[in-house]
Amino acid sequence: MAYRSLREFTDRLQAAGELVRVARELDPHLEIAALAAALVRRGGPALLCENVRGSRFPLLIGAYAGARRMAWALGVDDLAEHARAIEELVRTQPPAGMMDKLRMLPKLARVAQAAPKRVGGRAPCQEVVMEPPDLGLLPIMTCWPRDGGPFVTMPVVITKDPDTGVRNLGMYRMQLYGPRETGMHWQLYKTGRRHYQRARELGRRVDVAVVLGGDPVLAYAATAPLPDGVDELLLAGFLRRKPVELVPCKTIDLEVPACADFVLEGYVDPAEPMRPEGPFGDHTGYYTPVVPYPVFHVTAITHRRDAIYPSTVVGPPPMEDAWLGKATERLFLPLLKTTVPGLVDMNLPIEGVFHNLAIVSIRKSEPHQARKLCYALWGLGQMATAKCVVVVDEDVNVHDLREVTWRALTSIDPKRDVFFADGTIDELDHASCGLGFGGKIGIDATRKLPEEGYTREWMEVCRTEPQVARRVEGVLKEIGL
Ligand SMILES: Cc1cc2nc3c(=O)[nH]c(=O)nc-3n(C[C@H](O)[C@H](O)[C@H](O)COP(=O)(O)O)c2cc1C
Repeated sequence: MAYRSLREFTDRLQAAGELVRVARELDPHLEIAALAAALVRRGGPALLCENVRGSRFPLLIGAYAGARRMAWALGVDDLAEHARAIEELVRTQPPAGMMDKLRMLPKLARVAQAAPKRVGGRAPCQEVVMEPPDLGLLPIMTCWPRDGGPFVTMPVVITKDPDTGVRNLGMYRMQLYGPRETGMHWQLYKTGRRHYQRARELGRRVDVAVVLGGDPVLAYAATAPLPDGVDELLLAGFLRRKPVELVPCKTIDLEVPACADFVLEGYVDPAEPMRPEGPFGDHTGYYTPVVPYPVFHVTAITHRRDAIYPSTVVGPPPMEDAWLGKATERLFLPLLKTTVPGLVDMNLPIEGVFHNLAIVSIRKSEPHQARKLCYALWGLGQMATAKCVVVVDEDVNVHDLREVTWRALTSIDPKRDVFFADGTIDELDHASCGLGFGGKIGIDATRKLPEEGYTREWMEVCRTEPQVARRVEGVLKEIGL
């Protein structure tokens, strides 16, 4: 399902009892964030704050914070539907005959529909042109007491590769500096950052469009770790089974989704010195320090007449971003499997804040395969920031942390199976001595082979025989337990 607007999505959430409207006045300074964080912790609904102090626009928060809401945001009832479709797509072989070709048609149609398309007419996102543009009119939240100020926390930031013109969408927070100025938190190794650096080499400024709201698939697509050079709008179109309709911006050379609630048009000038950004209570659960980042200058703000401002709060897990991360874990697993042979399943536990811990299971077919897999992950896109990788055999359920603890700890000889490496670390990590580079740990908790120096007998897990287990189920029922 494709949503025509964020309002259509909020209506759906409300009809399903997954959203509460709050009519009383709420303060964007600390209060809404604290409320949203408390709600996430107790598995509560999304909030539509209709009366935000100092702004006429309603604020939506928590829209992705739950398995059902996350799946609905991506147009399905269960994310497994998308994971299956992606798996089928990547497994597609060239057709061997007529029947094969016919069978491929629906898949090909879905891919063909994925490409965004330019449309004419008046776009909803440009119903109102704010004169003069003033970010102070938006309900921008300050989330944590030591934050450096208010931050836009759910921006979909659009730029183009200065050489190829290929579009990129990324979610990068923006600290409010003034009515037409914000920070642009383009971290190391991110595509937006690379566009900025390349533009600096070319002596050009970077046109930037920031989209807020619209179909909720857009914000997810912006967070998805697609390779540099692949337009995230293709992923959005694939997931919503309908092209994202685009309209040209009014003051810069970029196109934006017509369904957006707000569009902030502007630029970043690499010739301008960076400006201190932060501190910010981040998704690691700690504040990130003040670090210089580029400045975004707003040249125009357009919006829907009935625009909703989307927001989120990150902090000590679990927070709303956990569900966005879990969606990526599920949707990108089929793609990872194509580059990492033997990979079966993966769990990035929420408390590991995405990059601190990856538990992966493998179908082990060769000696030292676990190490090979760790090094493969440490060289692969955003997985490269994984600080600790635990590798278990395929019969371990990686999503059951009790089972992982039991099986991993019984299967390792720490001196033999724990190994260290150096590599890329998330820029938000405060434990490494250097910024963006540090130590990694791999734990090979798979069954050991003679070729790995293990010549004793590897012991089997004790399991009840299936027919006995079935009988026991009957007995339990009979005795009322
Ligand atoms: C709520 C949320 C906020 C985020 N904020 C930032 C940020 O401020 N800076 C950043 O570089 N990445 C941030 N990310 C992660 C990026 O959006 C993510 O790594 C994305 O894949 C980057 O896209 P890119 O590979 O096209 O650069 C955030 C993710 C989420 C879910």
